[in-house]
Amino acid sequence: MWFLKIVVAVVSVGGVAVMGLPPCEFPAIYNFGDSNSDTGGISAAFEPVRAPYGENYFRKPAGRVCDGRLVIDFIAEHLRLPYLSAYLNSIGTNFRNGANFATGGSTIRRQNETIFENGISPFSLDIQIVHFDQFKSRTRDLYNQENSERAKLPKPEEFSKALYTFDIGQNDLAAGFRKLSDEQLRAAIPDIINQFASAVQHLYEQGARAFWVHNTGPIGCLPVATLYIRNPQPGFLDQYGCIRGQNEMAMEFNRQLKDKVNKLRTQLPNAALTYVDVYSAKYGLISNTKNQGFTDPLKICCGYHQNYVNVWCGQKVSINGTQFYGASCAAPSTYINWDGVHYSQAANHHIADRILNGSLSEPPIPITHACYKHPEK
Ligand SMILES: *[C@@H]1O[C@H](CO)[C@@H](O)[C@H](O)[C@H]1NC(C)=O
Ligand SMILES: *[C@@H]1O[C@H](CO)[C@@H](O)[C@H](O)[C@H]1NC(C)=O
Ligand SMILES: *[C@@H]1O[C@H](CO)[C@@H](O)[C@H](O)[C@H]1NC(C)=O
Repeated sequence: MWFLKIVVAVVSVGGVAVMGLPPCEFPAIYNFGDSNSDTGGISAAFEPVRAPYGENYFRKPAGRVCDGRLVIDFIAEHLRLPYLSAYLNSIGTNFRNGANFATGGSTIRRQNETIFENGISPFSLDIQIVHFDQFKSRTRDLYNQENSERAKLPKPEEFSKALYTFDIGQNDLAAGFRKLSDEQLRAAIPDIINQFASAVQHLYEQGARAFWVHNTGPIGCLPVATLYIRNPQPGFLDQYGCIRGQNEMAMEFNRQLKDKVNKLRTQLPNAALTYVDVYSAKYGLISNTKNQGFTDPLKICCGYHQNYVNVWCGQKVSINGTQFYGASCAAPSTYINWDGVHYSQAANHHIADRILNGSLSEPPIPITHACYKHPEK
């Protein structure tokens, strides 16, 4: 027991030491990920997100697959930066304070499926990194030309002071559940994690220093995963109705991600890397919904799902001459899940509140101080 106490004491001393320093004042955020943090990329590249998405904050569809803001939006607010424009959006964008390379359906590893089969994005993490490189080099060119573009571009010297955020991996697991056995997927995790590490390493070589890495959520708790399950075997679902095996896979992914982030701390001596346990924030909410003012965690707010008819949020479908519409529920702020796959704005707000102050991070420092390298444990 004395051993545990000492570890805890050292960590909190380190946290306090960092807390005595002024906040980082990140000039920009560069984000990489999937629909959990896509602020308009896939919507611009393919078909626009439709109503009623966006209605509870933006009052119209805003490129996000949510009724309002995402965790990345709450991060931007917290750091007093504007919401991130999607790199792929060709109109109405402002990249002065960063850019968002995330797209809905993105994976870490390039998939073998035809583009967009099963909702897989063509913009896997390696492509997002190519986009970033292009963004950075074109910014440098344009910025030095003193033209009217300048006001909407970051200052070239600010790239190394920015916060680099990641929320990706969920779709690698989802694709694995579709195509691989549990054993094969488990065996693939080290390769997935290595490809993630290569992306971080590449950005480091480009001058990035502060990294904020979200782990993956309890994918087995997404209503889309449980919607079609009838009469499950005992033990298949956990006490909250989540698919136990899928969550175990997510936890294995997270264990290996955390190990890799630890290794990167030694390999990239000037990097400040924060590993953020988003899984616990999400699962904590799902396992304790009633006390947090939410309804049944597996209930879907937007869409029509009754009598074996599934009409997704915003869809209109005619079945046997009857029109069905995937409408929003009456009280979206009491739902954890918005559309069966994506969290509601209310849930995102709750999750952001849990992760921003560092209580679920390693090292345990808030996002405002994520530029400081934490003393070695
Ligand atoms: C794609 O297919 C190749 C060859 O069959 C295989 O080696 C690779 O692991 C596959 N990639 C993914 C992400 O499934
Ligand atoms: C539509 O009609 C088919 C054939 O009669 C029937 O099997 C199915 O349940 C009906 N679907 C709905 C939603 O009523
Ligand atoms: C962080 O915020 C959460 C949620 O508001 C709170 O429960 C927790 O005690 C806070 N932790 C710290 C270290 O401030």
